[in-house]
Amino acid sequence: MYMQENNCNYLWWQKGIIYEVYVRSFMDSNGDGIGDLPGIISKLDYLQWLGVKAIWLTPIYPSPMKDFGYDVADYKGIHPEYGTMQDFDELLREVHKRDMKLIMDLVPNHTSNEHPWFKESSSSKDNPKRDWYIWQDAKGDGSPPNDWLAEFGDSAWEWEENTQQYYLHSFLKAQPDLNFRNKVVQEAIFDVMRFWLDKGVDGFRVDSIAHLIKDRLLRNNPVNPGFVAHMKASEQFLKIFSTNQPEVHEVIHAMRDVLDEYDNRVMIGELYLSVSGVVSYYGRGSKGVQLPANFQLITEDWKAKQLAIILDKSEALLPPGAWSHWAMSNHDQPRVISRVGAGLAKMAALLLLTLRGTPSMYYGDEIGMHNVSIPPGEMKDPQGLMEPEKNFSRDPQRTPMQWDDTTLAGFTTGKPWLPVAIDFSKVNVATEQQEEQSLLMLYKRLISLRKQEPSLATGEYFPLFANDEMLAYIRAQQGADRFLVVLNISRMKGLYVQDASSQVQGTIELATLKKMEGCKIGKMIELEAGEGIIVRLND
Ligand code: GLC
Repeated sequence: MYMQENNCNYLWWQKGIIYEVYVRSFMDSNGDGIGDLPGIISKLDYLQWLGVKAIWLTPIYPSPMKDFGYDVADYKGIHPEYGTMQDFDELLREVHKRDMKLIMDLVPNHTSNEHPWFKESSSSKDNPKRDWYIWQDAKGDGSPPNDWLAEFGDSAWEWEENTQQYYLHSFLKAQPDLNFRNKVVQEAIFDVMRFWLDKGVDGFRVDSIAHLIKDRLLRNNPVNPGFVAHMKASEQFLKIFSTNQPEVHEVIHAMRDVLDEYDNRVMIGELYLSVSGVVSYYGRGSKGVQLPANFQLITEDWKAKQLAIILDKSEALLPPGAWSHWAMSNHDQPRVISRVGAGLAKMAALLLLTLRGTPSMYYGDEIGMHNVSIPPGEMKDPQGLMEPEKNFSRDPQRTPMQWDDTTLAGFTTGKPWLPVAIDFSKVNVATEQQEEQSLLMLYKRLISLRKQEPSLATGEYFPLFANDEMLAYIRAQQGADRFLVVLNISRMKGLYVQDASSQVQGTIELATLKKMEGCKIGKMIELEAGEGIIVRLND
C-alpha cells in the first residue's frame, strides 16, 4: 500500500471538523425566541468540549428574513435580532481564543430585493446599477423570457412594473439574482469578502455557488423526463442552462484569488451535484473551491454497496492535492436520523468521522435530534409554504437546539420561533453528557480519536468489502497505527468473512456497543443491525 508519510502538512480545514450552527436555532440569550450571537458565545465552551475545529454560521446579515437570512439586505452588517457588530467581534475573538475557526455564509448569487443595490437597479433602465441584476424584456405575448423555474415555486422571472422588464430570481422573487457576468458585481462581492477577511474570519461557505453564472443566451431548460408529481415543481425542468455553467469556474478562481490574499482561509461551496460534478469545482490546479460540498451521503440511499461506490468514486475522482468534504445533514435537508432511522444513528457517526475528508456536522445531530413535525399554520419556511401539500418545509430540521431538560430545552426563556422537539427532556446535551453510552459521548470520543490518530484524520482510504448489509474499509497512514472500520448499514444482522489472503487482526478501539471495545476481531466479523466498530490493527 502506498501511504502518505505524515499529517503535519495538512491544514486546519483538512484535519478539523466543521460544525454548522443554524444561528436562529442555536441559543437565545435575550428571550425573544430567536438564537443570537451572544447565545453562540455562551456555548463555545460546549463546542470546544465536543472537539470541533470550525463553526460555520448561517447568514447573520441584516435581512427581511423572507428566506431566513439567505436574502441579504446589507453584506457588511449584523441582523439586529442576532446582535451587533460588537457581538460579532467578541464572538470572533472568543472563537480564536479557543483555537477554533469561524466560517461565514457568503450569499453572492442573490441579494434581498430590499438591498440598496436592487433598489437602485430597479429604479430606472439607465441606472448605473441596472446591469447588476439580470433584466430581460418580455416575450411578444408578455410572457417571461424563458422556461426557467425558481427553486421555490413558479417562474424564475418576476415582472417589474416600473421599468417594464422581468428580473431573474433563482429562489424567491424577494431574492433577485446578481449578474456575475458583470465584473463590477464581482468586485462588489470581492469587497464584501475582504471586509470579513480583514476582520479575521477564517473562510466562507459560499451559498448556491453553481448558480452564479447562467447561460449567456438564457436558453430554455429541457423538460425533466424523470419528473413525478411529488417532486418539487422546480424539478419539472433539468437546470442545464440555468446553473453549473463552465464560466462559473472563472468567477470562483477570482474569488479564490481574493481568499488567497490572506493566509490559511478556506472556501466551501454549496453544491448538489454528482461526484464528478462536485470535483470539477476544485478548479484548474485546485485553484477553485477548497472544499466543494459532497452531499452524496444526504442524497443517496443508505445501502452498503451503494455507499461503497460513493466512497470509492469520491476517492478515485479526487484530483491530486485536493481534499474531500462529507456531510450527512444540513439546514436544507431532513436530519440524518429521520432519513436513515434512529437505530443507525451511532453507526452514522462512525461513518462520518472515519471517512477521508473533512466532516461537516449539523448542530444537534450529535445528540440525536430528529425532524420535528410543525403544527399546521405554524410553518415558516418559504420552501414549505410554496408547495404546502408536498412536505418540503425545512422547518422540521431547524428546530431549537436541545441544551437541557428545563422548559424549552434551555434554548430560550421566551416563545421559540419554531417548536422544541417533545423528547427534549431525554435528548439534550446536559443529560447525554452524564450518560457514558449516549450518542453525544460517542461523538465526543470519535472526534477525539480522529484527532489523535493520523490514519483516521488524514490517512489513505482503502476499500475492503461491501455486501447488502456491511461496509468495511481501512484508514492508514505510514508510520501510524492503521484502522479497520466495519459498519452494518442495514436493519439486519450482517457478516463479513475476511479473506484468508488479506486477513487483518486487531482490537476494537471504539464501537457503537461500548462493551465490544477491547475485544479482538477474528476472521468472521458479525454485527447487529446498525452496529459499527473501529479496529486498531496489529501491524
Ligand atoms: C442555499 C441555502 C438555502 C437557501 C438557498 C437560497 O441552498 O442553503 O437555505 O434557501 O440557498 O439562498
